[in-house]
Parts: sequence; C-alpha cells; structure tokens
Amino acid sequence: MKAIQFDRFGGTEVLHVADIDVPRPGPGQVRVRVKAAGLNALDGKIRSGALEALFPTPLPSVPGHELAGVVDALGEGVRDVQVGDDVVGWSDTGSYAEYALATTVAPKPAGLDWQHAVALPVAGETAERVLNLLGVATGETVLMHGAAGGVGTLAVQLATARGARVIATAGLANQEYLASLGATATLYGEGLVERVRALAPGGVDAVFDLAGKGALEDSITLRGGTERIVTIADFRARELGVTFSSGSKRVSADRLAALAEDAATGKVVTTVTAYPLDQAATAQQVSDTGHVRGKLVITLD
Ligand SMILES: NC(=O)c1ccc[n+]([C@@H]2O[C@H](COP(=O)([O-])OP(=O)(O)OC[C@H]3O[C@@H](n4cnc5c(N)ncnc54)[C@H](OP(=O)(O)O)[C@@H]3O)[C@@H](O)[C@H]2O)c1
Repeated sequence: MKAIQFDRFGGTEVLHVADIDVPRPGPGQVRVRVKAAGLNALDGKIRSGALEALFPTPLPSVPGHELAGVVDALGEGVRDVQVGDDVVGWSDTGSYAEYALATTVAPKPAGLDWQHAVALPVAGETAERVLNLLGVATGETVLMHGAAGGVGTLAVQLATARGARVIATAGLANQEYLASLGATATLYGEGLVERVRALAPGGVDAVFDLAGKGALEDSITLRGGTERIVTIADFRARELGVTFSSGSKRVSADRLAALAEDAATGKVVTTVTAYPLDQAATAQQVSDTGHVRGKLVITLD
C-alpha cells in the first residue's frame, strides 16, 4: 500500500511516499481503508525528533494519529463494528496511509464528510478534557490563548455550549474567524493583560492555553494565581506551577460519536484545509509555521 513515511528525523523533506505492507489487525483492532487522516502539530514535533524523550519513535515511521474511513477487516474479538462500516477514530498505526489499524472508532454519520469527520477525534477529546479539568461552567468567562487552530475551533464552541463566555486570542487574520465561532476575539502579544481586562473587567474564571507561546505569566497575572489555568503546549508549566494536560490514553468512542452527530447536524462546525496524500510534506510545512486556521487534513480519495 501507499503510505507517507520518514526514515530519519528532520524537516519536512524527510517525508516521502513509500510502498509498504498492508497491516493486519490484531485482537481488538479493526483495519480501516483510510479516506482522510487528521494532521496534528504533534506530527511535525515527532518527525523533527524534538519529542524523542517523550514519544520515542521507532524508524521508519508513518505519521498520523487519527483517521476516517471504511472498516475492511476485523481482528479477533471485535464485535461492535462490521466490515463496511464508515468510522472515525484514533489510529494505532500511522494514518497517512491507505490502510491503518485502530482500536477506538465511532460510527461516522452519513451527513458528515470524511474530511470534517477526521477533524474531531484529537481536537474534540483534548478540548473536552481541558474544559472538564478547568471545570468551566455556565456564566463563567474563559480566556483561550491561540484558539483559531484545530483544538481551539472546538474548544470555543464546546465552552460556549456550556454557557461560558470565551475571550480568545489569535493573529490579525483570525480575529473574524474566532468571532464567527462565538468568541470575543483579541490579539495575542504585548498588551494582552490590558486588552483582556478591558474586555472582562470582572476578571477571567479560567484560562486554557492552546498555544504554548509564552502567555502563562500573563495568565497568572489575570487569574491572580495559578489556579484554573491549564496548558496543553507550554512545557514551562511545571516550573510556573501551572497544570499541563497531556493526551489521554482513555479516549471515549461514545463521546466521539456524540460529537460526530453534533457535527453532522451543524451544532458544531469544523473548518478544514485538505491536501492529497502525496502533498503531506506541504501540509506539515503549513502546520510547522504554527499559524493554522481550523484543521489540516490529508485526503486519500
Ligand atoms: N497536550 C495535549 O493533549 C495536546 C493535544 C492536542 C494538541 N496539543 C498541542 O496544542 C497546540 C495546539 O494544537 P492545535 O492542533 O490547535 O494547533 P494548530 O491547529 O496548529 O493551531 C495553532 C494556533 O496557534 C495560534 N498561534 C500561533 N502563534 C501564537 C501566539 N504567539 N499566541 C497565541 N496563539 C498563537 C495560531 O493562530 P494564528 O494563525 O492566528 O497565529 C493557530 O491557530 C499544539 O502545540 C499541539 O501540539 C496538545
């Protein structure tokens, strides 16, 4: 089968198309004919070798943690999924490939296309995990740093659906986008504390840092301490006494199924930019810039 692979760590030039064996599902796994693969900032950090201490990656490696596609083979003991089912979920093997294995998948509703479906697993789980950790509730004000990307697009909507007010940061080009999602948008960078105080004179109840670009000190100032601040991207969290939330191993197919239904009915929207498989390196270059609107996806149709 055709897959994107890297044989050494480095820039996007290490990504190339390879012809590799179709994987065989083990117990509890399904094999999926991939129609779309989600791209995450993590993919580039793994490819570069920057995260070797945290996520040791045996080489050669196929990137990609999430997939949408059609089940084409079942491993031993799989009962709740059939061959031919349209699914979306987390891949056990790299998803930038024609076929990938998965243990946790949810049904893909007919009204949701592959590209928009694959925008949901990682971003939805992350957004919900952190909003739960922060205990975001009705009537509260949440500040989100860097909310125009894959995770932020869902985090803004899930927080407003809880009845919270969201103040969210992005660059100039994404201000209107954040407003369209339901947030009060403001610019990141110098003067942030003053801008947020002007928008929320009563203070912010919680802070969700999705960017990891040095906004934790301002967050502590705005909160008057380190309580109810969570980052998913700033590794200085520990030294500053702030909570870092890591990717969960206990992801829920039921929660993903519910989110997919909401996306199919338009209750939740996702924004995607799609690249064909052989342009995966271009897609990762865009991701590596750190300036992404919505979700980048790889298509295999
Ligand atoms: N720990 C976890 O569980 C977990 C899970 C998923 C993702 N992550 C990490 O979380 C981060 C966000 O993920 P993502 O998928 O949403 O990323 P993404 O889609 O690549 O989006 C990144 C966003 O950051 C914004 N940004 C860039 N520079 C910024 C700055 N100086 N201040 C504030 N925002 C800035 C960009 O907005 P503009 O284009 O407007 O600049 C862009 O929308 C990544 O680092 C990713 O690796 C962690």
